[in-house]
Amino acid sequence: MSTVRIAIVGLGRLGRRHAANLQQTHGAQLLAACSPVAEERDWAATALPGVALYADYAEVLANPDVDAVFLVTPTSLHAEQIIAALKAGKHVFCEKPLALNVEDCLAVEAEAARHPQLKVMIGFVRRFDASYRDAAAKLAAGSVGRPYLLRSQTCDRNDESGFFVRFSASSGGIFMDCSIHDIDLARWLLGNPQPKRVWATGTNALHPALAEHQDVDNGVAMCEFEGGQLACFYASRTQAHGHETLTEIFASEGRLSVGANPRANRVEISDAHGVRNECVQDFYQRFADAFVTEAQVFVDTIRDNRPSPVTLADAREATRIGLAITQAFRSGEAVSL
Ligand code: NAI
Repeated sequence: MSTVRIAIVGLGRLGRRHAANLQQTHGAQLLAACSPVAEERDWAATALPGVALYADYAEVLANPDVDAVFLVTPTSLHAEQIIAALKAGKHVFCEKPLALNVEDCLAVEAEAARHPQLKVMIGFVRRFDASYRDAAAKLAAGSVGRPYLLRSQTCDRNDESGFFVRFSASSGGIFMDCSIHDIDLARWLLGNPQPKRVWATGTNALHPALAEHQDVDNGVAMCEFEGGQLACFYASRTQAHGHETLTEIFASEGRLSVGANPRANRVEISDAHGVRNECVQDFYQRFADAFVTEAQVFVDTIRDNRPSPVTLADAREATRIGLAITQAFRSGEAVSL
């Protein structure tokens, strides 16, 4: 296939970014955009000239010119939308997490198995970040020895608008929404170990309304793997200084850390307050390049007929661990997997 004709589905916080990236992706044509929200389609009419606009996802799937869908919709819709796309003969990119329960993940895997010619890729964007890729290559080369502990955090700047309180209704909560990235990193960077047991707790430091969704604005979790490897996760919605994704991998002959200073750029300010740098303000600023790479990899995977670099099994495992952590948090008990 020389050009992959893509429909973006979902034009919210992240969908708009993906739409802009897809317009720059080599070998791709952004053919259509879909949102049930009229203002979002109005935005697209201006921002995405020449792109066909749809209010109804079923109509996108009925368009024979669409080769692939790019799903950036609420997590609670992912599984059913992926399955519908596969049935319609479309390749699928879908944002993380794959689904909010394991049964839905398995249903997607079963449908994908019926269409081996179609690609499905889940958007674990950190796997396409240059620094994480370098860390993964160093671990694979054994340059710091045998990794035994991963400590990883996804911490957002405090957003007083309450966006993520509303978002919590469909996101699955802080562990499924934020820590899912760190869970995927743990599996990837520790060599796909089998999870054994998890425990979690959390607190609402600034946003008590989250309790209505059994959610918190700060959560911590621990995961033990078969073979003795460990992972510690921290997710937060309340940082004062900006967005801070940080991962440390402790190994027998050294330690790798990615993002220890979430610097916005290489400028350092020295003045009467000391020496400091500005930091990235949100996940998109931190991972902008990785999102561009991710879109290119998806298109290349289709054009070159290569296996998807992030498998549905990877995404199902992340959901399984994220759910066990959520269950541990809600019950106050350790959960065995
Ligand atoms: P959002 O709420 O801003 O946007 C959701 C979009 O889906 C809206 O445009 C909405 O109109 C649309 N939508 C709702 N129902 C629909 C339907 N039936 N058919 C078509 N479109 C529909 O949410 P946001 O923040 O953009 O998140 C979307 C997804 O992206 C979530 O799964 C989230 O987990 C994921 N995400 C991933 C990130 C990453 O780092 N990889 C970061 C932020 C979000």
